[in-house]
This record gives sequence, structure tokens and C-alpha cells, in this order.
Amino acid sequence: MNRTNDPAAIGALFVVGIGGTTREGSSTDRALRVSLRAAEEAGARTHIFTGPFLARLPHFAPDHPARSEEQREFVETVRQADGVILASPGYHGGISGLVKNALDLLEDLRGDARSYLDGRAVGCIAAAAGWQASVTTLESLRAIVHALRGWPTPLGAAINTTEPNFDPAGACTNPKTLDTLVTVGRQVVDFACRYRR
Ligand SMILES: Cc1cc2nc3c(=O)[nH]c(=O)nc-3n(C[C@H](O)[C@H](O)[C@H](O)COP(=O)(O)O)c2cc1C
Repeated sequence: MNRTNDPAAIGALFVVGIGGTTREGSSTDRALRVSLRAAEEAGARTHIFTGPFLARLPHFAPDHPARSEEQREFVETVRQADGVILASPGYHGGISGLVKNALDLLEDLRGDARSYLDGRAVGCIAAAAGWQASVTTLESLRAIVHALRGWPTPLGAAINTTEPNFDPAGACTNPKTLDTLVTVGRQVVDFACRYRR
């Protein structure tokens, strides 16, 4: 049996990033992009749903089956994913409404053979202006991933935005943050390879 974890040998893997805020220069967005880049360098194709896109998703309501073009695009893209990376700011100790609204829309994947995020590695990133909220937000993300039947990666990223982490161009300048975000991206691809195999 082929035991390789080389995505090129296994076939193109697809990783979807979801998160950020609508703020120009969002640190959550920057963190997500670093992990997605690491996933690309590990051989995956990627797609990102940023804060401005998420802000165009109508408020999810279970009794409203009509879907906007953006809602359909979001659900269909996640349906194709082998792995997902979620990134939320810590708002009042938990994930933002913007990110939660998008995740609630994954209710549309409930009836799939791979229900919700079943069989998908999910990297979780939380960015807040302190360790307390970044850690509680990371825990909230993991709990949501478990509810959606996904597989949180062993390492999650809790980022304290009061520390210097990114330069104005978005490059990660904090070696510890960089190592964590890169590891999260790689672990998503590694799991996706193992699951595909
Ligand atoms: C509505 C709101 C609530 C927030 N609540 C918290 C909080 O409870 N704890 C904390 O450390 N930071 C809190 N923050 C700060 C954000 O987590 C922090 O600025 C984060 O980096 C924002 O993400 P962004 O840079 O991607 O926009 C809050 C910010 C906003 C706008």
C-alpha cells in the first residue's frame, strides 16, 4: 500500500479558509492567509472566504430555505473541501457573529454523505487583544468543529494581537506565531492526505 503523504502523489487536495473581519488590515485575516500559504506550500489548492465576503451572507435562519448566490457559493465550496481553516477574532470572549453566521450556514451540508465537516481536518485560529479571549475563542472554535463532525488539528493558534505579529504588508514577523500558523496549515494537509489515502 502506498504510504506517501505527498499530496502530488495522492491528488490535488483542496483547503478552504474561512474567517477574518471586515477591518482593513485585519490580523485574523492575515493569520488565516499565513496558514493557507503553508497549506499551499504543502501541496494543496486553496480558497479563502474573507470578512468582506462573509459580511455579504444573509443572516442564517433555519426557516428560510432561499439561498443567495453567495450562500450557494460558500456551501458548494466547503462541500468540495478536503480540509478547512477557520479564523475568528475574539469578540467578548467568543467567536464573532460574522464567522458564526457562516458556520451556521453549513447546516446545508447536514444531509450530505459526508455530513457537515465529516472527514475533514479543520485548523482553528483565534486572534484577540489578550490571551484570555484568544484562548476561549480557540476553544469555542474547536467545540463548533466537533459539533460539525470535523477533526480539529492537534495544534490550534491563539494569537494575542497586542504583541507585534505582522508587518504592514501582512508578513508574519513573530517567529513563534509564524511557526504555529504554518504548523496548523501543514497539519490540515497532512490529515487530508492520510484521510484520502
Ligand atoms: C466587538 C469587539 C469585542 C471584542 N472583545 C474582545 C475581548 O473580549 N477580548 C479581547 O482580548 N479582545 C477583544 N476585542 C479585540 C479583538 O479581538 C482584536 O482587536 C482582534 O484582533 C480583532 O481582529 P482583527 O484584527 O482581525 O479585526 C474585541 C473587539 C471588538 C470589535
